[in-house]
This record gives sequence, C-alpha cells and structure tokens, in this order.
Amino acid sequence: MPIFGAWTQDVAVDLGCSAVRVYVRGKGLVAVEPNLVAARGSGPKCGEVLAVGADAAQMIGRTPQEVAVVRPVRGGAIADLDCMEAMLRHLAFETGFLGSLRRPRLTVPVPLDLSPVERRAVQECGRQIGAREVRILPKVVAAAIGLGLSEERPQGRFLLDIGGGTTEAAVVSLSGVVTSRTLRVGGASLNEALQAYVRKKFNLLIGDETAERLKLVLGSAYPSEDASHGMRKLEIRGRDLISGVPKAVEIGSEETREALEESVSEIVAVVSELLERTPPEVASDIFAEGLVLIGGGSLLGQLDLRLREATGLAAVRADDCTNAVVMGAGRILEDPEAYAGLFPG
Ligand SMILES: Nc1ncnc2c1ncn2[C@@H]1O[C@H](COP(=O)(O)OP(=O)(O)OP(=O)(O)O)[C@@H](O)[C@H]1O
Ligand SMILES: [Mg+2]
Repeated sequence: MPIFGAWTQDVAVDLGCSAVRVYVRGKGLVAVEPNLVAARGSGPKCGEVLAVGADAAQMIGRTPQEVAVVRPVRGGAIADLDCMEAMLRHLAFETGFLGSLRRPRLTVPVPLDLSPVERRAVQECGRQIGAREVRILPKVVAAAIGLGLSEERPQGRFLLDIGGGTTEAAVVSLSGVVTSRTLRVGGASLNEALQAYVRKKFNLLIGDETAERLKLVLGSAYPSEDASHGMRKLEIRGRDLISGVPKAVEIGSEETREALEESVSEIVAVVSELLERTPPEVASDIFAEGLVLIGGGSLLGQLDLRLREATGLAAVRADDCTNAVVMGAGRILEDPEAYAGLFPG
C-alpha cells in the first residue's frame, strides 16, 4: 500500500440526476441517496440547506413558499454547484470518507458529451469538499468495466444507460468508446410526459410522485401479450384543472403506454441510429451479445421487447442495473494498475 494510503481514501462518486452513489475502495458501495437538496431561499445560490437526500425527497411538493427542493444535477451536468457540494459533503461525512486528516481522491464518471466548463464544475465541486484529486472518466466506460469488458481482447459491446435525466447509448471496446450518443431524455422526461397526458386527457394536474408511481405500476414500452396486464388500471389523484378541487381518475395501462410513446421512441431511435454507425466487426460482436441495458429507466416494462422489435437484437438488462456505473468505477479503484491507462498524466 502506498505511504499515503492511511490518509487518503479512493472514492468513486456517480453524480446521477436521480441519485448519488458512493463507492469506497476496500468497502464497496456505501451510499445510494436521492440527489436532492431542500434549501431556503432560491436564486443562483443554494441558500440555507434544510435537508438532503431521502429527507429532502420527503419534502417534494409539500414545501412552504420560501423553501425549494433542488436537483443539483440536471441532464448529467451539475446545475447547482452549491447544492451539489452540500449533498456531497453530507454523504462524505455520513460514510466517513472525509475527515480532518483525510483528503480523498475522487473518481467521477460523467456523460460523454459534458462540455469543458461542465467538467471543470465537477472538478471544482470535488475540490470544494476537500478532495486531493478529481479524476473523470466516461460513465459508459466505467459500466463496461464493471460488466467485465475485456481489457486485452477487443470485443465490442453496446451499452444503453437510461438514467433519471440522461440516456446514453455507446459502443465500447477495449475500455474505449467507438461511437456514442447522449440524449437529455430519461426517467424524469417519462414522468413529465405522463403529467402532460393526464392533464390533457382528464384535466387533472398530478404531482411528480404520482407520475412516478404510475410509471412503475403501469408503465411499459410495448403492448403486453398478457391480456390481463393490458387491462390493468390505477387510480390517480390530483387537482382538477377546471374546478380546482382534488379529484381521482382511473387510468389504464394502454393509456399509460400511449403517454410514454414519444419519449420511448426517441430512445429507440437513438439505438437504431447508433447501430447504423457501428463498424461491421463490432456489429458482429453486438449481434452475438445483444444490447446491454443499465440505469433505472431500463426497468420500464417490455422495453426489451420494444428494442427487439426495432433492432432485431436481444436486449438484456444487467444485474444490479442502477449501480452498474458506480460498481464499475469501484472495480477500477480496487485494481488501479490494471486501469492506469484510463487516466493518463
Ligand atoms: N420500474 C421502473 N420503471 C421505469 N422507470 C424506473 C423504474 N425504476 C426506476 N425507474 C427510473 O429510473 C430513474 C433513475 O435511474 P438511475 O438511478 O439510473 O438514474 P441516475 O443515474 O441518477 O441518472 P443519470 O444517469 O441520468 O444521471 C428514475 O427516473 C426512475 O423513475
Ligand atoms: Mg446514471
């Protein structure tokens, strides 16, 4: 162990739009928390922090006027540096990777298309909480390593990461990216689509929590072969747009699928487009392996069937799909020599 080992901790942090995930070398995954900060006073600065993570999540939609629940990461980039810092500091102390004598080295997986300014914000955020060094690498590369992509033998893999605020499709080989596309569509856009649909069809305003539940219970990307599933209904509650009073309506799984259709087809289109741009040798690897799905959005019902219909390829969701990126980054921390080439200089 290097001499500074006792004073430094190697930590990987996945700053997701929905959740922050923390992996500490030698300990494994130590935290998964909703990436939310409740703060008093709005504007460009975070203001007085009242709650973070799961505690802040409880406050969504129920805060007094002067309190806002902020998502520090939007579209895969830090949108509110102060709030992100507050969130990280909280996690750092809670999991013990930051202490008076400890200056962690952070490894942060980010989307491929992050601009130089957005990258600097990630570095800045790490330094603000006291990191000795902040290393950045693409999320899809971390995930591919976690899923056992070979470092020696070139073999192409198609990864589709559908997160809370981003969707990234990438063809990866030898821990490098062959071709990729990033979309600012994710689980949150699906919720917005459901809210818009319910508003138009039933004149009903529903909150994000209700939309999320609807998505988890009835949401799907393809009609179900099981007729009874297709007939399922859910009661949702909100505020009537016209009378202004609370109201409940029943919505069916077919309607829910219809509401999600536009966002789902955007994701599917990106996959098809990327396949068209994939070099033939790599395409043959992908044909054998299929599409590998990660991220919470990949849990959407019948997404595999929808992708199979569009591409003719099998779509397989990775085990522990939501933690794939941070676990892959963790694997890099556990075996630094093997992956030294990822961080030149
Ligand atoms: N069963 C499910 N069906 C559909 N969507 C789901 C399901 N379970 C979770 N999700 C969605 O997954 C999303 C969160 O995924 P994930 O934790 O991978 O995001 P993230 O890594 O924080 O975000 P990003 O990678 O975009 O920065 C949420 O939008 C959530 O609604
Ligand atoms: Mg993610």
